[in-house]
Amino acid sequence: MEGPHWQGQSAIVTGASSGIGSAIAAELADAGARLVLTGRRLEALEEVAGRCRELGAAVHTLACDLTAPTAREELALLARREYGALDLLVNNAGVTMNARFSELAPEVLRTIFEINFFAAVELTRLVLPDLEARRGRILVISSVTGLVGTPTRTAYAASKHALHGLFDALRVEMRDHGIGVTIACPGYVATPMRMHALLADGSPQGHDQAAGRRMLTPEEVSRRVLRAAWHRKRLVKMGTETYLARALSLVAPGLLERILARATR
Ligand SMILES: NC(=O)c1ccc[n+]([C@@H]2O[C@H](COP(=O)([O-])OP(=O)(O)OC[C@H]3O[C@@H](n4cnc5c(N)ncnc54)[C@H](OP(=O)(O)O)[C@@H]3O)[C@@H](O)[C@H]2O)c1
Repeated sequence: MEGPHWQGQSAIVTGASSGIGSAIAAELADAGARLVLTGRRLEALEEVAGRCRELGAAVHTLACDLTAPTAREELALLARREYGALDLLVNNAGVTMNARFSELAPEVLRTIFEINFFAAVELTRLVLPDLEARRGRILVISSVTGLVGTPTRTAYAASKHALHGLFDALRVEMRDHGIGVTIACPGYVATPMRMHALLADGSPQGHDQAAGRRMLTPEEVSRRVLRAAWHRKRLVKMGTETYLARALSLVAPGLLERILARATR
């Protein structure tokens, strides 16, 4: 199968200041894409942008909180002004959590949905005409938790499941408009995400509860998901736990529940 050709293609990458997003930005830069990168932390974002420029890419940045509608509008306008239309939107920015639902503050549920779901969906709405002009692609970074609900991740799992519902439907609506929609479901990835996981009261947990276990690297994830997006695949699953959890949820859901319950007891 022919490999991806991102040379000259314009892309927005959200959550580019860290982890999977920064790896996706670097891979696209290396392939000659023209980028708009966004994240909240200016310094970290500029560091990633600097590395992308060293690889020869044209890069514009916008440090902002994507839960603000005005920030999303500014981002869409920036991409339109600089590159005209859009070839690729990577909806990657997200936060996770670590708390039982019975203890979770209602505001934390909403915070997680605002960034993981609404920010991705509303940014997509804004750039849809720009993507349509280029028969472009949307890449959504979901999770194994978007396929299987896992304890202590209720709000996170719900936000990721919601992404599947919306983007699966959008893929069908956009069939005749030439826009591809790829949803990626990695298992554990070695990034700082779990350090920033929200606890029941919304404070960051400050440590990685999965440290020491085998994980995918952000670069492995980037390679797989960009390739899948290029080929307009619908779904891409990565990591042993993703395959196992998905298979068990279909053929032995009771066993999966017992395993998950034991793991979080
Ligand atoms: N790591 C894993 O094990 C794993 C597994 C499956 C799926 N995923 C998914 O992969 C995606 C990327 O996560 P990661 O692992 O790379 O985590 P990460 O290193 O913590 O990166 C998260 C990114 O999202 C940005 N972000 C968070 N809240 C934001 C907001 N309100 N507005 C704008 N940007 C915001 C962060 O910006 P700042 O840092 O500048 O605030 C950062 O760039 C997420 O959607 C996550 O759910 C991760």
